[in-house]
Amino acid sequence: MSQHPERTKKITAPDILAAKGKRKLAMMTAYDYPSGLLADQAGMDMVLVGDSLAMVVLGHMDTLSVTLDEMIHHTRATARGVTNALVVGDLPFGSYQASVEQAVRTSSRFLAEGGARAVKLEGGSAFAPHIRAMVQAGIPVIGHIGLTPQHIATLGGFRYQGKTAEAILALIDDALALVEAGIFALVLEAMPAEAAKAITEAVPVPTIGIGAGPEADGQVLVYHDVLGLFERFTPRFVKQYAALGEAALAALSAYASEVRNGSFPSEEHTTHLSKEEAEKLHQLQNR
Ligand code: KIV
Repeated sequence: MSQHPERTKKITAPDILAAKGKRKLAMMTAYDYPSGLLADQAGMDMVLVGDSLAMVVLGHMDTLSVTLDEMIHHTRATARGVTNALVVGDLPFGSYQASVEQAVRTSSRFLAEGGARAVKLEGGSAFAPHIRAMVQAGIPVIGHIGLTPQHIATLGGFRYQGKTAEAILALIDDALALVEAGIFALVLEAMPAEAAKAITEAVPVPTIGIGAGPEADGQVLVYHDVLGLFERFTPRFVKQYAALGEAALAALSAYASEVRNGSFPSEEHTTHLSKEEAEKLHQLQNR
């Protein structure tokens, strides 16, 4: 499969920042070598090794249970498949909230061990000191506000945010605090289009929407949702572009039934000895 025609070099965090107001950014999650390879070959600007891994790959009911070591392991595999896109590692729950030092230590691991070239963390202005220290340490950071799934316990579930004018102003305050701390992009999750538009107009960094309408500077979706590989729960903002889960089930069922009825492997998938070796074997067996 060929590379995206416009891409001749590795995309960096400054490239993403410079895209604000010039072009829309396409971001996709990926969790391993094959998904990283496909997302990159499809021409994504950024490949996010999201903590959604917990749900769509590891089978947890929310994103809280994935560990830092699991995230690093999957980031490293994903990065091996990505040539051009910016690989972004997602800081998992409990790996950065405790202190500025913990945030720097955790995010350094994503770059040093995971092969990421940026990280993302969830949360508003309370995390500005963490982000400032990370950026000073040489780690490009993406913010994430609106629905922040690591906060489902305090939010009361996977709920849309920014549904009143006051709530939107609070989100803009958070966004500006994160910008001031040094983020180069900002994910806006699950909010009315008007909220995303107001935040996008207020900040000088690209906004990347998910369930936030068309006005953000870019969009991100979860790989398994886009390809129809995760049927347990599909948020209503997801557009499914393929039904690979159904295709995979049909293929696996056909294999199982052909094994059982003896039609696989057929001659086409079988190797035989040369005539001479077959004869020799026959003689040795009958000695
Ligand atoms: O973990 C994830 O997949 C994410 C995106 C949905 C933004 O954080």
